[in-house]
Amino acid sequence: MLNKIILTGGAGYIGSHVAVELLESGREVLIIDDFSNSHPEAVARIGDIANGNVELLERNLADPAHLADIAAAAKAFGADGAIHLAGLKAVGESVAEPARYYRVNVGSAMALLEALEAAHAKAVVFSSSATVYGALNDNPVTEDGKTGPTNPYGRTKLMIEDMLKDVAAADPAWRVCNLRYFNPVGAHPSGRIGEDPNDTPNNLFPYIAQVAVGRREKLLVFGDDYETRDGTGVRDYIHVVDLAKGHVAALDYLANRKHAGAVDINLGTGTGYSVLEAVAAFKRASNRDIPFEIAPRRDGDIAEIYADASRAKELLGWRAERTLEDMCADHWRWQSQNPEGYKS
Ligand code: UFG
Repeated sequence: MLNKIILTGGAGYIGSHVAVELLESGREVLIIDDFSNSHPEAVARIGDIANGNVELLERNLADPAHLADIAAAAKAFGADGAIHLAGLKAVGESVAEPARYYRVNVGSAMALLEALEAAHAKAVVFSSSATVYGALNDNPVTEDGKTGPTNPYGRTKLMIEDMLKDVAAADPAWRVCNLRYFNPVGAHPSGRIGEDPNDTPNNLFPYIAQVAVGRREKLLVFGDDYETRDGTGVRDYIHVVDLAKGHVAALDYLANRKHAGAVDINLGTGTGYSVLEAVAAFKRASNRDIPFEIAPRRDGDIAEIYADASRAKELLGWRAERTLEDMCADHWRWQSQNPEGYKS
């Protein structure tokens, strides 16, 4: 059993939801986070929601000066494996500062591998992204589709996937699962943890939520001339609680599987919604007006992508259960109860 889990990036948006699910599954959790894009308050709230406690190590995984500490902490904790989420994730920023993205994202993954090796905890679930597919495949996209990320952020995800595959191929004791997330949205139904972007949100849902709560005047819809049903971009939005449960299922799978090697698994719902459909659903859930304006296409965006989620069902026994309505209602509960995020 993979019981004692290191969770890097565990104070962040996705990490905090994964931490809750891990505690609720009876596991012990050591969060490693440097709070560069997350809040200590999230860690306290994880404990409240799950009625349990996580251990916390405040360190930057990408800083070589911290490597010895991290390895010692992994050993002392008695780690069985890790879920690796820590990293930089803003696409535009990765285009402007590629070297920093490679250093932080790839460097962090390398440091974690070394720490796990030293602790004899050779199991990793990695937070990869549907962005590794680029725009090269027909929908729904399967894990055997072509990869071709279109920006440095996406290339770091693919490089880390490949690195983990090489490690697993060289030493069959390693068990690796690359989870390719589609578009995580929503929040825990308690309304106590959720996404809290540092600056202006890049992604659609946090932006809509800030418009609904009155922090921003209007949404810009990036393009209405795509070849989709209403001309706006189509994505596979997945509730962050479903996504978090997928990580627990991945640990169970790695613990029980008989064969070595790495496996890639899509985490999506299999259904795509357009930007205008998402706006309409959020409007219904929040009962607020969401003014928007059609703007030019955003560089690097693709028209449409959604998952073939059958491998997750087959291997993990997992599938997404929450609807677009649930995603909007839960996202809105978090945003309306915490209008300024964790600062509120
Ligand atoms: N969109 C808008 N207005 C906005 C923001 C987004 O119209 O203000 C549109 C986009 O054009 C796209 C859809 O909403 O059609 C979804 O955009 P997001 O930015 O929410 O998500 P992406 O599908 O673009 O995915 C991006 C990166 C991924 C990354 C993901 C999560 O491309 O690599 O965000 O961070 F994994």
